[in-house]
Amino acid sequence: MEQPILEVKNLSIDYPISIGTVEAVRDVSFSLKEGESLGFVGESGCGKSTLGLSLLQLLRPPGQIVAGEMYYYGKDLLKMKAEEVRKLRGNNIAMVFQNPLTSLDPLYSIEDQFFETLKEHEPKITREEAAERAGKVLEDLSIDKDRLYEYPHQLSGGMRQRIMIGLGLILDPDLLIADEPTTSLDVIVEAGFIDLLARLKKEYNISLILISHNLGLVAEIADRIAVMYGGKLMEVGNAEDIFARPMHPYTEGLIGCVPNIKMDQEKLVSMPGSPPDLVNPPSGCRFSPRCPKVMDICTEKEPPLKTHKDGRQVACWLHDEAN
Ligand SMILES: Nc1ncnc2c1ncn2[C@@H]1O[C@H](COP(=O)(O)OP(=O)(O)O)[C@@H](O)[C@H]1O
Ligand SMILES: [Mg+2]
Repeated sequence: MEQPILEVKNLSIDYPISIGTVEAVRDVSFSLKEGESLGFVGESGCGKSTLGLSLLQLLRPPGQIVAGEMYYYGKDLLKMKAEEVRKLRGNNIAMVFQNPLTSLDPLYSIEDQFFETLKEHEPKITREEAAERAGKVLEDLSIDKDRLYEYPHQLSGGMRQRIMIGLGLILDPDLLIADEPTTSLDVIVEAGFIDLLARLKKEYNISLILISHNLGLVAEIADRIAVMYGGKLMEVGNAEDIFARPMHPYTEGLIGCVPNIKMDQEKLVSMPGSPPDLVNPPSGCRFSPRCPKVMDICTEKEPPLKTHKDGRQVACWLHDEAN
C-alpha cells in the first residue's frame, strides 16, 4: 500500500496553566493520503489549531505534546531536529494562518516578501528569478502581477489572503495546512476563495489539511472530514456521506448550523450551550452535557472511536453495539 503523506497516532497535547491542565487534544489518530484533502471542523476551542500547529512544532507555550506519534512519509516528525523541521516547513509543508494582516509585514512590498521567503530556502536565488516565479504564482491566484510592487495595505482582504496562500505555494510544497483561511473574508469573497483553493489543489497537486469552524465550507473541498469536539475526534469519514448522513449528534448539530438555500433562515439555529472547559472536561463523552440524545452510559463511560461501514468512524454510544 502507498505510504501516507502524514500519519498521526494517538496524539495528546496539554497546556499546563496555573489552574490546572488544558487537555487541548486527546488521543487523535488520522492519516492523510497523497493528494487527499482532509477537513478538521468543530466549534471554537475544540483543539483544531493546537493540532495543526503541533504538526510543524509550532505549538505556543506552554503547549506540549504529551503522547502520540506523527510521521511525514514515514519520517518521525517528533524526532526531527528544529533545523530539519524548519526546512520541511516551506519546502514540503506550508502553513497558512488565520489573519493575513498580522502575517504579512506591512513595511515590505509583496515582491520583497516573496523574495525573502524564496531566499530562505534557496539562498542563491536572484531578485529577478524570484520576481518571475512570484509573478506566476500571483497569476495562478488571479492577481495581476503588477501588484507585486504594492504593499499589504494597498490590497483588499481577499487579495492579502490569496497572497498568504501564494507565499505558501511558491516553494511547491506537497502539503498545505490552512487554519481558518477565510475567517477574515466576507461571504462573496469566501466563495471565490474556496473555488480557488480547490483549483490550486489540483494544479499544484498538493494534499490539503483545512481547519475551520464552518462545516459547510469544509464540505465543499474536503474529501474527508474529521469532526472535533473538546479535543477529541467525534466522527471521521467521507465528506459527502458525513454531510448527508451524520451519525454523531454533535455532527448533526453542526449541520443544523449550516445555512442551506432550501432552509428558512429563521429556522437556522445555533447549537445550545458551549464547548467544554478542557481543564475539567465532563466525565464520559465530552459532548454528553449538550447532547439531545444523551443516555445514562454517556456520562459514565467515554465512547471509543469505532469504525463502521465504508470506513466511517464514530465515537458515540448510540452506534456502539457493546452499549
Ligand atoms: N497558548 C495557550 N495557552 C493555554 N491554553 C491554550 C493556548 N492555546 C490554546 N489554548 C486552549 O486550548 C484549547 C484548544 O484551543 P485551540 O486549539 O485554539 O482550538 P480551536 O482552534 O478549535 O478554536 C482551548 O481550550 C484553548 O483555550
Ligand atoms: Mg483555531
